[in-house]
Amino acid sequence: MTDPTQDPRFLQDPYPTLAALRSNCPVQPMHAESGGRPGYLVTGYAEAREALGDPRLSKDTAAFFAGKESRRRLHPAVAHSMLASDPPRHTRLRKLVTKAFTAGAVARLRPFIARVTEELLDRWPIGERFDFMTALAVPLPVIVICQLLGVPQNDRPDVRRWSGELFAAGRPDVIDAASHSMADYMTGLVAAKRLDPGDSLLDQLISVRDGTERLSEEELVSLAVLLLVAGHETTTNFLGNATLALLRRPAESDRLRRNPDDVPAVLDELLRFDSPVGTATFRFTTEAVTLGGVDIPPGSPVLVALGAANRDPVRFPSPDRLDLDRDAAGHLGFGHGVHRCVGAPLAKAEAEIALRAVLTRFPDIRLAVPPDRLEWRRTRLVRGLAALPVTV
Ligand code: HEM
Repeated sequence: MTDPTQDPRFLQDPYPTLAALRSNCPVQPMHAESGGRPGYLVTGYAEAREALGDPRLSKDTAAFFAGKESRRRLHPAVAHSMLASDPPRHTRLRKLVTKAFTAGAVARLRPFIARVTEELLDRWPIGERFDFMTALAVPLPVIVICQLLGVPQNDRPDVRRWSGELFAAGRPDVIDAASHSMADYMTGLVAAKRLDPGDSLLDQLISVRDGTERLSEEELVSLAVLLLVAGHETTTNFLGNATLALLRRPAESDRLRRNPDDVPAVLDELLRFDSPVGTATFRFTTEAVTLGGVDIPPGSPVLVALGAANRDPVRFPSPDRLDLDRDAAGHLGFGHGVHRCVGAPLAKAEAEIALRAVLTRFPDIRLAVPPDRLEWRRTRLVRGLAALPVTV
């Protein structure tokens, strides 16, 4: 199989291709992935869930690339993040993060999220075409995550730029440079917070303990960068994808407009329908594994297509239909297993507040271009819109 993600039609609508691949075989070999080894693409729901829960499939990229020649110069704090590690290291870091990043921390942030959303909506030009992504979906998550971590206001434009650059698909030098800028910045911020503590999540992470365990300086910097990056781009894409799905379906939008209290209950279906981490999350096998009846040799990259799994008709009947009454719990939009998204409650709080505000405040919001003219981001990691032109 050649890489379909390079095809512009695939970027527009990957689901027919993914469905064809899935019905052909839910686990199938792909041509040379990283390091020249053949990779395997997982498109079935049961197989994807199994892969994400199997400890023989590793996230430890450093181990995967060990001994291979590489010109990559990612900062170690980015290369060895919690997301790129396996138990027991992962278990230890994750336990410390969940002690600090609690439901209470998200609840305390809700009034701030609502205020920032309203301020952004205040600036929307009535009667003119503008880009929803620039006007809400991009700025809101980055402002929220900076607030959560205690990044001072003046530093936020830099942080936002580096965070964007870390997703610069196909430009490894830009990504590597941004990883250093971001990690150096966070090292300074941690040092400043030690001298002058506050009450942000970063301050909590600095003081969090598990018996005698605590986070080292490098682990703190690494976690801060991971939270910033993981918490920003994905939520941006979710806001864009969910808004597009609703704009294309006026009956569903009207229903939510009339019953805004239904918004929290439909977020899982919106995430299932057009998953922001759509195309692939990556693992590699540490030993021989049989997945979906396919034998995968040790050391093989495995790409788990969450968006494809979420459209598997065996698990979700009529999967290509957005059905706001569907019980979509169990979707894989936030992953599954030990790495399941730590920020899911925050992402949902942001989406709930933003979608509710947009629908009720701007009942006439419309797409300003035909859906097949929309431009999607050229990256294999996430599925998101480059721009979403609308009018209100
Ligand atoms: C992990 C999706 C928002 C922080 C993940 C994973 C997925 C995901 C699929 C697992 C990746 C894997 O197993 O390879 C999403 C989506 C979001 C979102 C779709 C928005 C709708 C956030 C937010 C934060 C966050 C707001 C932080 C504030 C993280 C972290 C991990 C993670 C730290 C790594 C967890 C671990 O390794 O144990 N996310 N995420 N995410 N996410 Fe999210």
